[in-house]
Amino acid sequence: MKTPALPFAISLVTLALMNATGASGATPPWADAHATPDMRAQSVVKDMTLEEQLQRVHSEMAMPILGFSVPVGALGSAGYIPADSKHGIPALQVTDASLGVGNPNNVRPGDGGTPLPSGLSIAATWNPQTARQAGSMIGHEAWSKGFNVMLAGGVNLARDPRNGRNFEYFGEDPLLAGTTAGETINGVQAQHVLSTVKHFALNDQETARMGLSANIGEQALRESDLLAFQLAIEKGQPGAVMCGYNRVNGVYNCENKTLLQDILKDQWSYRGFVMSDWGAVHSPEAALRGLDIEMGTQIDKLLYGSIPFQIPLAQKAAADIAYRTRVADMNTRILRSVFAAGLVEHPPITTPIDYTLSREVAHKVALEGSVLLRNEHQALPLSTSAQRILVIGGHADVGVLSGGGSAQVIEPEGPALSIPQGGEGLLASTRAQVWHRSSPLQALKGALPQSVITFNDGRSPGEAAELARHADVVIVFATQWMMESYDTYDLNLPQGQNELIDAVASANPHTVVVLETGGAVAMPWLNKTAAVLEAWYAGASGGQAIADLLTGRHAPSGRLPVTFPSSLEQLPRPAIASFGAKDTERLDVNYDIEGADVGYRWFARTHAKPLFPFGYGLTYTQFAYSNVKVTSSAPLRVTATVTNTGKVAGRDVPQLYLTHVPGRPQQRLLGWSSVSLKPGESQQVSVEVDDRLLADFDVNQRQWNVPAGDYQVALGRSATDLEASLTLHRQANRFADRPVTQPLP
Ligand code: BGC
Repeated sequence: MKTPALPFAISLVTLALMNATGASGATPPWADAHATPDMRAQSVVKDMTLEEQLQRVHSEMAMPILGFSVPVGALGSAGYIPADSKHGIPALQVTDASLGVGNPNNVRPGDGGTPLPSGLSIAATWNPQTARQAGSMIGHEAWSKGFNVMLAGGVNLARDPRNGRNFEYFGEDPLLAGTTAGETINGVQAQHVLSTVKHFALNDQETARMGLSANIGEQALRESDLLAFQLAIEKGQPGAVMCGYNRVNGVYNCENKTLLQDILKDQWSYRGFVMSDWGAVHSPEAALRGLDIEMGTQIDKLLYGSIPFQIPLAQKAAADIAYRTRVADMNTRILRSVFAAGLVEHPPITTPIDYTLSREVAHKVALEGSVLLRNEHQALPLSTSAQRILVIGGHADVGVLSGGGSAQVIEPEGPALSIPQGGEGLLASTRAQVWHRSSPLQALKGALPQSVITFNDGRSPGEAAELARHADVVIVFATQWMMESYDTYDLNLPQGQNELIDAVASANPHTVVVLETGGAVAMPWLNKTAAVLEAWYAGASGGQAIADLLTGRHAPSGRLPVTFPSSLEQLPRPAIASFGAKDTERLDVNYDIEGADVGYRWFARTHAKPLFPFGYGLTYTQFAYSNVKVTSSAPLRVTATVTNTGKVAGRDVPQLYLTHVPGRPQQRLLGWSSVSLKPGESQQVSVEVDDRLLADFDVNQRQWNVPAGDYQVALGRSATDLEASLTLHRQANRFADRPVTQPLP
């Protein structure tokens, strides 16, 4: 994706490094691009006064909201840290987020970015290459707009389908989420834009997000949410880990020594820096517990009355060597990541962006990430012969819905439609439902020129049902808007859309439902419909992708990264406690109920039948599995032959699950493959398993423990559609965490 470096770029770097040249004219050690990032960082810090070091461990939010101003030199975005010209360190221009370059409150007038489909859609591709391309695209746009830090990499597990931010994240399984996040981070950082992984840890609901304590035992935490972070860090090597707002076991994340110092930095040997979420720092003591930089300082001031890493930290450092040592280490870690991500040698250059190319990436994600949930009597793909097609609802005449909050991306041309929602709280001014400019209706008209396609906005179920009676096919677009800092109360589609779909599907059995939702929803009308496509928030080319999938120009191949429950009663917590509480309300949430058995594992444990299981998704062909074999037991490797037995080309995602460990049933996703096959074609696939997925985490020994004995695994089409169960014997294996930070090539 990267535009080749221009001569101008070279002169900028040379200039910066010339500034960094010592008075003697000799190149100072930090300017030596061949030295390791650690050595360069250490040499800068050695040359800094304590005062200089203290200036670089806090950052203002660079947006004019809530009465704040944009600091001089800042582009206007989530954050800004001025340059250190003495050492050739560029200013850090920090932008949100995982789905593209944000521009909150239009702080940079008219400067939009290309919106990716939601994180759930990226995860639903089960395609690491696609996730990486998605990261590269947004990283390239960020870089071309002058940003060098991107707050991407949200990897919180979907413990609750009502979590308002699930759409930003990568689902409920640590392996799938960690892999997907790691690849997107890789893509972003390949563009020389430093990425985060966030929100460390257990920031798994929005209700009382700044006050709640997520309570869980360490073993369960290590095998679930922390494993997702660990895998994402290993794969993506993010420069920063963002600690989230909430508390874990009673202690705020950004001053949680167990999480930040003991696990992340000591046991995992993470060498990057810990960045706070905006308004998540409560005291200067956080510095001794592992936090390296306080971001969005004005929000801490507003909420808690001070900026802990400014004067309070300076006072501590003046009096206490432990703080002074940490301040030096905080700077070293920040600079190490700045050097490692190439921010000094590859400064961003304002470059025109080829938005057509970017939209192609968004299109690819939506094609691979949309999930066909139902297709009775092969209702889809739609026939291309002349038909009367009625499209209803969802503002499908103008575009596709997106999710709100700091992950909101607005296209360069502005939104197709924006409906302000009002409301209270820190994010109130950004609270609007936004539709991107990619109309499914227009795309369908383009794809089916022989058909007569009409639109009804769906505001009256009676009217829509009456019109539906006179159509050959009806396509209802149903939307569920989600946003940071709010959860949904239940899984019902809002604003009477269940009644609308029911009325329409009762009037015409050839009803196809396209869902544009932030996550799992209930479908009380399901049995009356002919087909259902989950398109999530489908991004910049969402309308086109939906039309391509409905018409069979491209076969759907996404697989659910989350379980769709049949009812709220099936969940570990049927109600969200204190629903509607303020961000800062103190609340205890018990995650020991499910522990590490998040999502499908909870369903397996409780023998509950979901509406649609994790891993599920249909396509327009069928696949058969044969020769399923364990070819190695340590490391565990399973191979199989996948054959396309249908009439059209398609992509399959065969999934390998653990079903039994010695002494107990235990379901876990162990790996998967993604294979595209023509009709009649076969291919051998091979899945190799990370031993941590077979292991229990032994908290006392701080080791992963694979006990000796028999293990059962099965190849499946989803978490509940398993075939070819195999038993294998393993010798005992115990091992400690290996360092997550890899030596640089
Ligand atoms: C969010 C972060 C985001 C930050 C900066 C916070 O409200 O939780 O994900 O990166 O704001 O905008």
